[in-house]
Amino acid sequence: MRIISSKFIFPGHTLTMLMLLHFMLSASCPTDYIDTCRIKSSCKNGLVVEISINTCDGSCLKNVNFSSFPSLKKLFIVKSELEGNILHQIGLLQNLTHLDLWQNYIKGTFLISFTNLTQLKHLYVYDNNFSGTFPLSFANLTQLEYLNLSHNNFTGSFVVSFNNLTRLEYLDLSSNNFIGTFPVSLTNLTRLTYLDLSANYLSGTIPSRLGSLKNLERLILSQNQLTGPVPPSFGYMINLTLLDLSTNLLNGSIPKEICNLKKLKTLNLANNRLDGPIPSVLGLLTHLEFLNFGMNNISGSIPIEITYLESLQRLDLNHNLLSGNCHPEFGQWRLDYLDFSSNLLSGNVYFHDPCSFSHLDLSDNHFTGIPMLTFCNGLFHLDLSCNNFILEGFNFSKFPHLSYFNSNTTFEERHRSNKNIIILEILFPMIVGLCFIILGYVIYCHKKVTIEKRQPEIKKHGDVYSILNYDGRIACEDFINATENFDLKYCIGRGGYGSVYKAKLPNGTPFTLKKLHRFEAKQPAFDKSFKNEIQVLTHLRHKSIVKLYGFCLHDKYNFLVYEYMENGSLFCALSDTEFVVMLDWKTRVKIIKQVAHALAYMHHDYIQPVIHRDISSKNILLNSKMEGFVADFGVAKVLDPNSFNQSVVVGTLGYIAPELAYSITMTEKCDVYSFGVLALETIGGKHPGDLLMSLNSSNGHGAMLESILDKRIPYPNDRLIEKEILRVYDIALTCIHINPKSRPTMRHISQELSK
Ligand SMILES: *[C@@H]1O[C@H](CO)[C@@H](O)[C@H](O)[C@H]1NC(C)=O
Ligand SMILES: *[C@@H]1O[C@H](CO)[C@@H](O)[C@H](O)[C@H]1NC(C)=O
Ligand SMILES: *[C@@H]1O[C@H](CO)[C@@H](O)[C@H](O)[C@H]1NC(C)=O
Ligand SMILES: *[C@@H]1O[C@H](CO)[C@@H](O)[C@H](O)[C@H]1NC(C)=O
Ligand SMILES: *[C@@H]1O[C@H](CO)[C@@H](O)[C@H](O)[C@H]1NC(C)=O
Ligand SMILES: *[C@@H]1O[C@H](CO)[C@@H](O)[C@H](O)[C@H]1NC(C)=O
Ligand SMILES: *[C@@H]1O[C@H](CO)[C@@H](O)[C@H](O)[C@H]1NC(C)=O
Ligand SMILES: *[C@@H]1O[C@H](CO)[C@@H](O)[C@H](O)[C@H]1NC(C)=O
Ligand SMILES: *[C@@H]1O[C@H](CO)[C@@H](O)[C@H](O)[C@H]1NC(C)=O
Ligand SMILES: *[C@@H]1O[C@H](CO)[C@@H](O)[C@H](O)[C@H]1NC(C)=O
Ligand SMILES: *[C@@H]1O[C@H](CO)[C@@H](O)[C@H](O)[C@H]1NC(C)=O
Ligand SMILES: *[C@@H]1O[C@H](CO)[C@@H](O)[C@H](O)[C@H]1NC(C)=O
Repeated sequence: MRIISSKFIFPGHTLTMLMLLHFMLSASCPTDYIDTCRIKSSCKNGLVVEISINTCDGSCLKNVNFSSFPSLKKLFIVKSELEGNILHQIGLLQNLTHLDLWQNYIKGTFLISFTNLTQLKHLYVYDNNFSGTFPLSFANLTQLEYLNLSHNNFTGSFVVSFNNLTRLEYLDLSSNNFIGTFPVSLTNLTRLTYLDLSANYLSGTIPSRLGSLKNLERLILSQNQLTGPVPPSFGYMINLTLLDLSTNLLNGSIPKEICNLKKLKTLNLANNRLDGPIPSVLGLLTHLEFLNFGMNNISGSIPIEITYLESLQRLDLNHNLLSGNCHPEFGQWRLDYLDFSSNLLSGNVYFHDPCSFSHLDLSDNHFTGIPMLTFCNGLFHLDLSCNNFILEGFNFSKFPHLSYFNSNTTFEERHRSNKNIIILEILFPMIVGLCFIILGYVIYCHKKVTIEKRQPEIKKHGDVYSILNYDGRIACEDFINATENFDLKYCIGRGGYGSVYKAKLPNGTPFTLKKLHRFEAKQPAFDKSFKNEIQVLTHLRHKSIVKLYGFCLHDKYNFLVYEYMENGSLFCALSDTEFVVMLDWKTRVKIIKQVAHALAYMHHDYIQPVIHRDISSKNILLNSKMEGFVADFGVAKVLDPNSFNQSVVVGTLGYIAPELAYSITMTEKCDVYSFGVLALETIGGKHPGDLLMSLNSSNGHGAMLESILDKRIPYPNDRLIEKEILRVYDIALTCIHINPKSRPTMRHISQELSK
């Protein structure tokens, strides 16, 4: 049991109090469990004033009596599966100023009485499952500045008056089941800078008085059932940077007063019933980066003033009644995301720099001309379907239903008489809640071919295969058909999380497909993290990481489609007595280096650290040149640097870092351990198995190395290679150190191996 105390003063009383906490905690928990639990406390004048408990097993807290620490000012119990019934003790801690109980997934009613907690400034109880109405005594919290109740199951209308909470600055009540009309008493909270009531069941109109909250910087009322107009009084909230009223039942036109909100960066009014034109004064909002008026009944033409929005990155006007020609000035646009789909727009559209887009959707309009026929690397989504384009310079003159799909140089045309053709590549669809998601797949037959040397071959193979489809089911079906509904004869491997298949599409394009087991997909929160991880992984770009071309997410099946790897997995290569001779020492060292570089990139050079969590020889694939690629990111995790990262233990037995047996906190050092095992396996020809334990404790390596090397190929006769193998071996030993902190980082390993 560790008590890490930041501001330690050690008079006798303090020590007694801390020992008391220690005792209370250990009374119901095995010591080794408590070791993984992060407990911090601090004292002042011999009194415990702060206790912070993070990532503990809630049952360890059963015996803790918080009323034994009456001087507590700050109490944080987070991510600890706290049980609701100890909450009532907290109501006695009169001096409490900060109370954090987030992410405990506590069920039931909120048992804390606030009657005596009059000093409370900061109350964060988000991510629980509290139900029932919020306690009335809450109205006594006159000192409260920060309140976050989001992601709970609180119900009822706001009978509590906010009138006494005059100091409130941050108020987040989002993602609950609050009902009734908009709580008018909120409009008295003039200090509010942040107000989020989204994802509730609020109805009625938005009170015009809300506009008097002039300090508001972010206002989010999306996903309710609010009716009536967008109040023109919003024009007074001049400090607003974010205004999100999307997914309500608001009607009327967009008020011109909105043009006063000069600091606005995000304006989202999508999915309402707004009509009338887009006010031209919108052009004054020069800081606007994100503008979404999609899915309304907005009519008229798109005002030219909209091109004045120099900071704009995303413009979404889809599904409205916008008509008329696009101004030639639109051609100057350099946006990242533009969606004009499903309107009545006509004439020509020109884009001076089409390569500035990653997403361009002009589908389902009456456009007639588009001279933009060069394709760019960055353009991930292009949909021009259902228009009347007359193409310049092509042998086709008119295709009423045309799609271009770009994968840097290729385009395809499709005739589909009565369907919208939606072509997606890497872009992740914005519409959450879609049952399945389609991605187009592009599979290069030959990668990394130098244009000069292999020109004829590129031509022969057409360079790029596009698998284009029109809706998700068909796209997914194509792969299912190609594997004959995941017939065993196509299965080339099985892991803990899925089976790997190798097959060819009807046009001959080979692909590798990994089907996830269903239980993973059934886990709550899996869907979200799956999407998130896929989104990141589609953007991982490293020459030793297998490219993920796409995935299919469906009730019945979840699978990922990867670049095809001719020589299968390293595991198979090492197990095949004939094939193994291809894996000479030089090749093996090369593969180890390639894996090290890929992992170093993931851990250290990508925007967010990504841990693979399942490095094993089965997940290292070999191409035709026997180059190693890290594959299979089905369970990879993006580390959030601002939180503790925990999850169920995943991975392949024999490669899982030992600390994961008693801790649920993930760090990238788990990958380092697996890498160490992999390196030993690669030079040894088989998994080191029980040797791991003895290797871990041994110091001298000379004799050990000789005994571990794969005997199916001759002992290295080249001094240089021998030295490299020795280096790999030494590094591998440091990687499998029991203590994660003693393992080197992948960056260090990657640099060492490059020497
Ligand atoms: C908690 O401690 C207080 C005094 O500090 C005591 O009155 C109360 O009975 C204790 N509660 C439990 C459940 O032990
Ligand atoms: C609560 O705070 C007040 C003022 O700082 C102090 O006088 C009082 O002793 C504290 N109460 C406890 C139980 O420590
Ligand atoms: C509030 O404090 C008073 C006096 O200290 C005590 O009698 C009462 O039970 C407390 N109320 C709650 C809800 O804890
Ligand atoms: C709340 O409970 C429901 C049903 O048990 C569950 O689906 C949901 O994930 C829970 N939410 C949180 C934040 O724990
Ligand atoms: C605190 O809240 C209770 C219950 O709502 C109420 O009866 C009491 O008057 C309030 N006390 C103060 C000081 O506002
Ligand atoms: C409230 O908590 C949620 C997490 O559920 C977080 O996303 C949000 O930013 C928090 N709001 C404030 C105002 O801190
Ligand atoms: C959430 O509240 C609703 C009633 O509003 C209730 O039916 C449901 O069981 C609650 N869910 C949880 C997980 O408490
Ligand atoms: C809270 O507001 C009510 C009226 O809504 C008032 O009677 C009460 O005194 C206020 N309490 C505090 C502590 O200001
Ligand atoms: C706002 O506060 C004033 C007094 O401070 C009060 O008279 C008024 O009723 C309050 N407004 C609302 C909507 O609660
Ligand atoms: C807007 O923000 C600025 C700077 O944060 C602040 O000085 C000013 O008082 C705010 N304006 C209003 C009307 O609250
Ligand atoms: C908005 O909808 C309400 C009914 O919900 C209707 O009474 C009102 O006339 C509508 N306003 C406009 C401007 O369409
Ligand atoms: C297409 O992409 C490849 C590699 O991604 C690149 O080498 C090539 O230059 C690109 N071609 C064009 C025309 O952009």
